Amino acid sequence: MDRTGEKIAAVVLAAVLLGTLFMGTVLPYQAVRRQRDSAPVSGSVPQGPFVALTFDDGPRTETTVRLLDGLAQRGVHATFFVLGVQVEGREDIIRRMDAEGHQIGLHTAHHAKLTGLTAEGFYEEVDSLRTTLMDILGERHFMLRPPYGMVNPSVQQWAGAPIILWSVDPQDWSDRDSARQAEHLVSRARDGDILLLHDIYDSSVDAALETVDRLREQGFWFVTVEELFALRGIKPEDGTIYRCLPPGNA
Ligand code: NI
Repeated sequence: MDRTGEKIAAVVLAAVLLGTLFMGTVLPYQAVRRQRDSAPVSGSVPQGPFVALTFDDGPRTETTVRLLDGLAQRGVHATFFVLGVQVEGREDIIRRMDAEGHQIGLHTAHHAKLTGLTAEGFYEEVDSLRTTLMDILGERHFMLRPPYGMVNPSVQQWAGAPIILWSVDPQDWSDRDSARQAEHLVSRARDGDILLLHDIYDSSVDAALETVDRLREQGFWFVTVEELFALRGIKPEDGTIYRCLPPGNA
């Protein structure tokens, strides 16, 4: 390599290093900005309010695919805490979620109550799903949503993942009235909230898409949980419980 070649190599290396360094902070903003490419945005970086839409217990082909279609039409990213038993045979849906910018997290293999398990049982429920998802998506760090939101110090100790609960819950499993669920979500959502729905009910898909449309009209931005952490400048810690990420708590 001659001198010029060395210089070029050095510049390329510096660019790659800088790119890697800033990726963590820049990517979420770009992801957010992509949502509104067609809409006029005054500042370069949106100031919020931000909310994270999260879905548990899927994927379920009939409902999850319709939800993904609806989110794609709106350019909105969500977070899916999936079940191992549901992932089996639906690996293509997991790949699609990932390709379309959604976050995928752990909701155990069989919807187990994690607080009643031994360490061995815990690892069977959580690590088997973690391994399944890594086989599909490659190595990465997954966040955990314990079924029923049930947590105790052992779960926190064994999690090996940030524990993500929620702050707004329309209890979409109890009655299937999508209008009531959307009203619940829209009337309660505040900056930094984590909204809970289940992508296994048609009514929940309807409620989610109506909520996206109505909250975006009010100026809300929909981000993944990871993006919400980045936007708040908070590093998610394994074993720590998070219910929402309001502004000003960094
Ligand atoms: Ni669940």
